[in-house]
Amino acid sequence: MKHVLMAYYSHAGHTARIARTIQQTIQDEGCSSDMMEMMECVREGVDWSKYDIVIVGSPIVYGVYNKIVWEFCEKYRQELDSLPNSFFNVTVVARSPLKATPEGNRYLQRFVSRSPWKPRDLKCFAGKVDYPNWNRFERFMIQIIMRITDGPTDPSVTIDYTDYEDVKDYARHCLLLDKLQRRR
Ligand SMILES: Cc1cc2nc3c(=O)[nH]c(=O)nc-3n(C[C@H](O)[C@H](O)[C@H](O)COP(=O)(O)O)c2cc1C
Repeated sequence: MKHVLMAYYSHAGHTARIARTIQQTIQDEGCSSDMMEMMECVREGVDWSKYDIVIVGSPIVYGVYNKIVWEFCEKYRQELDSLPNSFFNVTVVARSPLKATPEGNRYLQRFVSRSPWKPRDLKCFAGKVDYPNWNRFERFMIQIIMRITDGPTDPSVTIDYTDYEDVKDYARHCLLLDKLQRRR
């Protein structure tokens, strides 16, 4: 039975929800998975010997990845590289199909060029607009992004752009990574 590490960062809970959908799908497929927040991974350590596959996920917040994401990739570069692996990001720009592809999503391209760990599999998910749960500054900043990208600006609006069937397909795809990627 394959054992998968699902390491994630989440600013406001939505990437955690996506990670949980991945974990649930992996379990539904008869495999097992541990979900670990990146801060826990970095501070408490990871028993890498337990895992056959690793999936890493992070949202973009104010145009960047949180510094814990870079710390995680720096600290565990070798371990990540030694396992079949995949990286996904979560952005609201990915609600547009063009920006939902690894080639068309500049945040993903930036990750690939800047990360010390070079993921061998990439995925973009559209995230959530959640104005009512964001503070005034967050709301204001996202409204600016939305004005530029022709998205919703109504502060009472919550829209979950994530395609959960696509998330489940991705989880099943990740279970094949040991066959698709040669072990190092
Ligand atoms: C404070 C804040 C800043 C964000 N900045 C961006 C951004 O620069 N580009 C983008 O595409 N999405 C941006 N988003 C949208 C998030 O990527 C999206 O809401 C995602 O679902 C958040 O995941 P999380 O709840 O796991 O943090 C931002 C969201 C928040 C709350």
